[in-house]
Amino acid sequence: MKTLLAFAFAFGGLACGLVACRHEKPKRVYMPDMAYSPAFKAQEGTVRVPPERAIPVNFSPYPFAKNDGERAGRELRNPLASSAAVLIRGQEVFNTFCIVCHGPTGLGNGPLIPKFPAPPSLHTGRARGYPDGRIFHIITQGQNLMGSYASQIPQEDRWAVIRYLRVLQGKAAPVPPQQNPPAASGGGS
Ligand code: HEC
Repeated sequence: MKTLLAFAFAFGGLACGLVACRHEKPKRVYMPDMAYSPAFKAQEGTVRVPPERAIPVNFSPYPFAKNDGERAGRELRNPLASSAAVLIRGQEVFNTFCIVCHGPTGLGNGPLIPKFPAPPSLHTGRARGYPDGRIFHIITQGQNLMGSYASQIPQEDRWAVIRYLRVLQGKAAPVPPQQNPPAASGGGS
């Protein structure tokens, strides 16, 4: 197959040199099927109706309605262990998405406050007592003034940020210090 292709290209180049590249002649077209595929009008003949309750690839439906946070708290489990990598990721997510309102340690004093109404501290007994699934639910569905972050934060990152929140709340060991990036290898940019 490889040799065949190589031959085809070599021969193609030759043919081009001899014939087709003189501009007054129309160019040879190799594999015309790819260049000029048969055109279908949108929706013509080829419409396939998805079966009922079909779920698009890569989409997992979230089974808890907005006011179903307590049940989410009971039924969802954080699939991520509180590893260094998870905490570092969680910190990144928190500092990207949550810090603007909740502040660097969750006191509710982020830079958007008071332009945006201050959120409650994440250190109250209530927030400390929420199971992970309940917080996952809040991030996923939003809660009152706080909007949903489902479209911006992938599920795994939501679980990671909850692990990090537990660190902020003093309920889990702190994030290990990040390793220094490897020394630059001289010169270069
Ligand atoms: C635009 C500002 C804003 C951002 C960004 C934001 N929140 Fe909130 N958050 C709020 C507000 C306001 C509330 C209070 C909602 C209410 O009244 O129930 C809240 C509530 C919460 C609560 C519930 C607190 C409680 O005591 O009920 C948790 C947990 C929480 N946020 C976590 C997060 C996490 C984690 C992120 C980042 C993924 C985040 N929030 C991003 C504004 C924000």
